[in-house]
Amino acid sequence: MPAAFDPGLARARFPAFDSDTGRDWAFFENAGGAYVPRTVIDRLTRFMVEAKVQPGAPFPASALATAMMAEGTAAMAALVNAPPETLVLGADTSTNLHVLANALAPLFDPGDEIIVTNLDHEANITPWRRLTRVGAVIREWRFEPETAALDLAGLEALLTENTRLVCLPHASNITGSVCDAARAVRLAHEAGALAVVDGVSFAPHALVDLAALNADAYAFSAYKVFGPHVGVLAVRPELLGRLDNQNHMFLAGKGTLALNPGGPPHELTAALAGVTDYLEALDRDLGGPPDDAPRTRIERLFGLFEGHQTALTARLLAGLRAVPGVRVIGAPVAGPHRSPTVAFVHERLSSRAVAEAMQARKVAVRHGHFYAWRAVEALGLDVDDGIVRTSLVHTTTAEEVDRLLDALPGA
Ligand SMILES: Cc1ncc(COP(=O)(O)O)c(C=O)c1O
Repeated sequence: MPAAFDPGLARARFPAFDSDTGRDWAFFENAGGAYVPRTVIDRLTRFMVEAKVQPGAPFPASALATAMMAEGTAAMAALVNAPPETLVLGADTSTNLHVLANALAPLFDPGDEIIVTNLDHEANITPWRRLTRVGAVIREWRFEPETAALDLAGLEALLTENTRLVCLPHASNITGSVCDAARAVRLAHEAGALAVVDGVSFAPHALVDLAALNADAYAFSAYKVFGPHVGVLAVRPELLGRLDNQNHMFLAGKGTLALNPGGPPHELTAALAGVTDYLEALDRDLGGPPDDAPRTRIERLFGLFEGHQTALTARLLAGLRAVPGVRVIGAPVAGPHRSPTVAFVHERLSSRAVAEAMQARKVAVRHGHFYAWRAVEALGLDVDDGIVRTSLVHTTTAEEVDRLLDALPGA
């Protein structure tokens, strides 16, 4: 195995980089939605050609649909180290958390406390705040303005004997700060509360291990982890059995179906297996022993991804720090406390103006609050103009980072 990761090997497997819309662009909008490898497209195409019927019947097309969907679910389960039967595959994370909150609502009594942050994407705030309708009391765990990160001491100070639920982000989609989610989950459990973790901004960059994390529910968006537009929600079996059915009455007690009104998106579920097909093929390209256990192979690969992302994040941050008038949001140096989502503002220019100037140079970045509305407000920024956000993944190259820095107005 190489010590450093060559993103060229990965990019060769992503048709978008060589497409008419992607060819000349330096792509930094991964946190919005990542490109997909050819294996995902192949799975999707095969399903549409050979299996585009209702699954569950014995004839060949239906049997293939059943099998392909099971493979897609198993792929996501393998990615996050969770049993496949604990996964909900829904429209997206916003929908999954909304449904989960409705399913949890009957478990709350008036006066029960729910802790939410002001750092999360609104998908992990609004559904919980709405539970005031059943008498829940909301406590806000605010991030530290100096570090733009959540401090666990802040959580400890909020936990009381009435706390029933703690909701937090594994990584922020704005500040890039990574939360010690395992410790937060432990603290919640010690207080007798459930813990729901939003892993959307963490999962594309580092390996998720739900067996170790022990969260009661963990959400991520496959379409940001090089897959199709599906939201994945893993729910611990002990909790699944206690949730209020959100599906047709005859599906009560039918595992994750009770959390998936309308059921999973069929062809997209099938295409999810293309993500792990890709990871396995890449590991093979890199010389990884194919007989190793799947988890070993995936750990090895993500280790390389993380090293690559950290090196590029350091390069990007150093470049940004050198530009007069640019203020980096969140930690100014790379490391395990920081995911490769890097946001910044410019002292003299609006974020819109900066993003537009960079887009004119074929650098795909965006500006705004990215639905982390409360976080941007707490940072003291104009919420509508927001921040300029860049997001690096394992396919990002040093040359792209240099193009980004070069395209920055005032650089
Ligand atoms: C951190 C975070 N959580 C939740 C979401 C919502 O995900 P979805 O678009 O799948 O609803 C996003 C989307 O950008 C996000 O960045």
